[in-house]
Amino acid sequence: RTRAVVLAGGSGTRLWPLSRKHFPKQLVDVLGAGSLLQMTVRRLQRLADVELQIDESPIIVCGSEHRAISAQQMEQLGIGARFIIEPSGRNTAPALSLAAMHALEDGGDAVLVVMPADHMIGDVAAFQRAVAVATRHAERGAIVTLGIRPTRAETGYGYIEPGDEIGEGADKARKITRFVEKPPLEVARSYLASGKYFWNSGIFVLRASVWLSTLQQMQPETFSACTAAYESGQDSATGFTPNEQLFANVPSDSIDYAVMENLARGGDVEGVVVPLDATWSDLGSWDSVWDALGKDAAGNVASGRVLMEDANSCYVRAESRLVTCVGVSDLVVVETADAVLVVDRSRVQDVKRIVGRIADQQ
Ligand code: GDD
Ligand code: MG
Repeated sequence: RTRAVVLAGGSGTRLWPLSRKHFPKQLVDVLGAGSLLQMTVRRLQRLADVELQIDESPIIVCGSEHRAISAQQMEQLGIGARFIIEPSGRNTAPALSLAAMHALEDGGDAVLVVMPADHMIGDVAAFQRAVAVATRHAERGAIVTLGIRPTRAETGYGYIEPGDEIGEGADKARKITRFVEKPPLEVARSYLASGKYFWNSGIFVLRASVWLSTLQQMQPETFSACTAAYESGQDSATGFTPNEQLFANVPSDSIDYAVMENLARGGDVEGVVVPLDATWSDLGSWDSVWDALGKDAAGNVASGRVLMEDANSCYVRAESRLVTCVGVSDLVVVETADAVLVVDRSRVQDVKRIVGRIADQQ
């Protein structure tokens, strides 16, 4: 049995003004095909196409302030998701732990396919193949991550050095010999130049019991704090909520730092990387949204009521008004009813500086 777990805790200020504090990136229809959360859940359901016995009720872990809209978006799709509601964000290791505890209680030791709620994957068939292989390694107790071939020296990702081949035929994968989360630029450059490393996609495939026992071994404090918060949590019609005070005491830590980096240092559990050979993006900036979408002959991407004359390589998005551009290039323009962003494509990382200045209003 396989069960989907969607980590939907993001705040995603970098896609402002479309994403807001109370309407983060995963809830936004960034690509014109439903919200990223909806796309993620639909993609996971299609794992049934490759004969994975995926439970029809995905577990969605999200903050209490986002539960209502997330639930509404699932209703639109006719999907009966199971919600785990975080009273506060403690990062991904506690979020996954709550989901694993819930899965164990609700149907046994499933293989969990753990996905960020806000990524784009270009090729669903490649995703299905990779998850099928990953599942077979996870069934025998490995912790598996899907690896992406890096295209730049990105410092916001985890890097994986693959080792020996493992598995037969189509199930061939590689052991993880080193996992380095968010290396400094110089190190990222050397990994890229070596041609050996993968990026960590943030998509993990593992058994619920394996995650919990590994966390217990590597981060006993986080494990026991999560267990306490879970055990005195509360179930309601809207979902499961861990005990608020006890959950606030859980150390904030990510799956990557808490477990993945230590696995590679020789823990009891085997780390495995399965390559995901598909266009993949974490849509971390407006530039990466432009990058992910099909462009016209001049390299422009337009959405909504947009008119352009002699414009090149622009991303222009109109939500409520007509937006027109003349004689400009390499711009991002995002218009919404109450805020408009105009930024050079090379400066999109700095949008957070603006968001920081208007934090109380956004
Ligand atoms: N439920 C819940 N609660 N979800 C969370 C929380 C939380 O407290 N914190 C983060 N998430 C969700 C985010 O919404 C996102 O979908 C996913 O978990 C990953 O969290 P990020 O905060 O975006 O992590 P990152 O981008 O810094 O790094 C991770 O992803 C990279 C690939 O995009 C790591 O796994 C890297 O190794 C990886 O390369
Ligand atoms: Mg991310």
